[in-house]
Amino acid sequence: MMGDYVEVSNVDLEASRQFLKRFVSPGKAGTHCALDCGSGIGRVTKGVLLPVFEKIEMVDMMEHFLLHAHEDYLGDDADRIETYYCYNLQEFTPPKNKYDVIWIQWVACHLTDKDLLNFLIRCKKSLRLNGVIILKDNMARQGCKLDPIDSSISRHLDIMKNIIYKTGLEILAVERQNGFPEVIMPVWMIAMK
Ligand SMILES: C[S@@+](CC[C@H](N)C(=O)[O-])C[C@H]1O[C@@H](n2cnc3c(N)ncnc32)[C@H](O)[C@@H]1O
Repeated sequence: MMGDYVEVSNVDLEASRQFLKRFVSPGKAGTHCALDCGSGIGRVTKGVLLPVFEKIEMVDMMEHFLLHAHEDYLGDDADRIETYYCYNLQEFTPPKNKYDVIWIQWVACHLTDKDLLNFLIRCKKSLRLNGVIILKDNMARQGCKLDPIDSSISRHLDIMKNIIYKTGLEILAVERQNGFPEVIMPVWMIAMK
């Protein structure tokens, strides 16, 4: 079971690194600072963001995840975490004009449509010049699917695109995660600015 998880995580992180490369380069997004939203212990921070950005900030509603990231999981790289924010995303306003990349993975599914829409609008204001928001999540094959175990909601890609459209953000690229087992719900990456 754990082996499966590590394998899925590695495939996920590699695809994320490749996707990110398309938006971070001279003339595109810079490499000064990224924000990892719903960061948990920092799996994405460690595997995708720390190799690219000088500084990272992490936000998660669970204090013990952030503590574990700082005290253990990120090792010496924890020095490059500028701020740990312990907040619900629906109540969190990221600082203005701060981030080159805002990464939102496997947490949009925990927000209502309205909270997600408003959070994306606040994120838009916190991007630096050429900055991008990358949202990666499970997307239902049809309509919306509620997971009764963790109360998360997976939306069809078109429903997600419709929420993004209402924020005024422009979608730059949409790519499906490859290489996951068929039983796993489709996962898509969306880059927007
Ligand atoms: C499935 S984990 C994903 C962690 C990380 N993004 C990753 O891909 O490895 C979901 C994370 O989102 C956090 N979370 C869930 N709902 C949240 C909310 N409303 N505001 C902030 N964090 C939330 C949880 O505490 C958990 O750490």
